[in-house]
Order: sequence, then structure tokens, then C-alpha cells
Amino acid sequence: MTQIPIAKETIDRIAAANKIQNPGKASIREMRKMIQDVEKETGVRFVKMEMGIPGLPAPQVGVQAQIEALKSGVASIYPEIYGTADFKKEAARFVKNFLDIDVTPDCCVPTVGSMQAGFASFLTLTRYDAKKTKVLFIDPGFPVQKQQCRVLGIPMKAFDVYEYRGDKLRDKLEEELKDGDVACMIFSSPNNPAWFCFTDHELQIIGEMANKYGVVVMEDSAYFLMDFRKDYSVPGKAPFQPTVAKYTDLYVIMISGSKSFSYAGERIAMMICSPKLFNMECPDLARYSPSSSAPSTASPAAPPTACSTPWPPCSRAPTTAPSTSSRTSVSTARRPAS
Ligand SMILES: Cc1ncc(COP(=O)(O)O)c(C=O)c1O
Repeated sequence: MTQIPIAKETIDRIAAANKIQNPGKASIREMRKMIQDVEKETGVRFVKMEMGIPGLPAPQVGVQAQIEALKSGVASIYPEIYGTADFKKEAARFVKNFLDIDVTPDCCVPTVGSMQAGFASFLTLTRYDAKKTKVLFIDPGFPVQKQQCRVLGIPMKAFDVYEYRGDKLRDKLEEELKDGDVACMIFSSPNNPAWFCFTDHELQIIGEMANKYGVVVMEDSAYFLMDFRKDYSVPGKAPFQPTVAKYTDLYVIMISGSKSFSYAGERIAMMICSPKLFNMECPDLARYSPSSSAPSTASPAAPPTACSTPWPPCSRAPTTAPSTSSRTSVSTARRPAS
């Protein structure tokens, strides 16, 4: 389509006012702001498809519980950073019921949306072993996650899995992981926007490769239980939602409340760490822990310096190394200093 019912000059002016050089390459958020301005100026309404807003009413049981919680005064108190005991117990029960995996309540951490879970995971997982600094994206995935890595200065690798379904995935993962510098790999199933799901065989391949190369798998379950190949909806009864957790003990599962509970506005999610990862001893994390005292064999702390994408610049001056300890774990790294 070459003609739209709005003058090109108007679009160009509004794009320029929003500092957008090429609307065709604008990010979702830039585009949203620009369209808001176009609507305001012209009165022409747009059908917006840039975000998958669930739009279904949030379940009444949740809304009611939230009202009660607010009435009881929770708004004025900082929440327990580690998650309240009730939540952690229920989260562990939830994943047992729907994924058939066994984790202790300790391994279940509430987050402010999956976005925060992703941010915290990228930050931690690319630092817990000084030799492993990269993130491998098995696309298609959530573009914001790449942006998070850019902002954090984390080097990335990515491939579109479309060409590597089934057994081809094994060879591709070998190729991507063989250098031994990938800390974690991330995928989403079902994914946005292609909406296909990994088969159990493919999840098994991902798990095997994770075990072989010591890579943590981040399973982005933004569309939890929206895999409709089978009916996974009955708690505690097979079939269960397929998960990579069946094939590796190095995983983080991010379960968003946005879509499956229609709670997008509340920014709620949970992060389920495998017990092995949660309890892992990570001396290299001591580089970032001011409360550590014992020396570590890790090299001085320096954030990752190179990334394959040009913007924003990733190189930074190395930070001074804080004191170190040999007992810092992935889990204690998130706890407040006592
Ligand atoms: C694949 C994927 N991951 C993560 C997210 C973010 O989820 P949340 O709203 O919990 O931050 C989205 C949101 O659209 C998504 O599509």
C-alpha cells in the first residue's frame, strides 16, 4: 500500500518530533507513542496490534484477594524480597500440578512480570561463571529480552529455529555452544509471534545440550498452558505441559501472570529455579558481593565488554573488584546483605 489516508508530511513531522528517523524500523514503544500523536492530531483511529493484550477480565478470585490484601494494609509495607511463605509454597505446588516438576518453595521467586525475571536472570547467569558470558537466543522470542541484554552489555548469539526443527536442532545447538562461552539460552514455547511449540523431543535435545555444555536454560513461559496440542489444564493429572525441566537440572522457568491469568496490568510473574541452580556454589559471583570475605580464584570483576549488535555501545571501563568469597551462590546473590 503506497497511499494512507493521512498526509505524508503529517506523519514525517510527527515522526521527527518523536525523534524517529524511519517509522518502518521503529520499536514497538516508539511506534505506539507516534500513533498516539497521529490519532490526537488527525482524529483517525488506528487498530493497534503491536502488543498482545489479553483483554479478558482478570479472574474474580484474584481481584477479590487483592482488594482484601490492600484493605489489610499491604500497600504501605515493603514486600518480602524473597517472596512470602504462602506464595512460595503455592508456587511450588502450582508447578508440581501443571508441569509435574519437584522444586522446593525456596526455588520459587515472585517477580515484577517476566520482564524482571528475564533481566535478573541475564544479569546473574552471565556473571556466575567468569568463562561464560554470552546469551543464546533461540528465536522467535520476546524482543525486549535482547534489548535488556544490550542495556546490560551482555554479548548475544541468536538463530531462528524455523530452519532447525527436530533433530536438526541438535547440530545447530552444538555449533552455537561448542566454544563454551554461552552462559544461558532462552526460548519461548508457544512463542510470539509464530506460535509454534517445541515437541518433547526438541525439549529433550535442548536439555541434553544444556547438560553437555553446562548452559542454563531459560524457559520463557509467557503463554503458560496456551499450548493446545493436548489438554494440560487438569491440575495434578497427566498430560502435563511439556517443559525442558524434564531433561535438564539447570533451568529457570519464567511464568508470567500477564496472559495466563489476564493480569498484564499488575506486572506479576514467578521465576522457578532448578534446585541444582538455586543451591549452586558460584565463587565468581563473589566479584559482585560486597558482603563476601574469603578470597576467590575468579579474575577481577569486569562486565562483559563486547556484543554483536552495535547499539548501545557495550564496552565499559572495568569496575574495581570487590572482595570475594567462595560461598556465593546464585540464590544468595539475590538475598539482601544481612
Ligand atoms: C514471549 C514473551 N515473553 C515475555 C513477555 C513479558 O511478560 P510479562 O508481562 O510477564 O513481563 C511477553 C509479553 O508480551 C512475551 O510475549
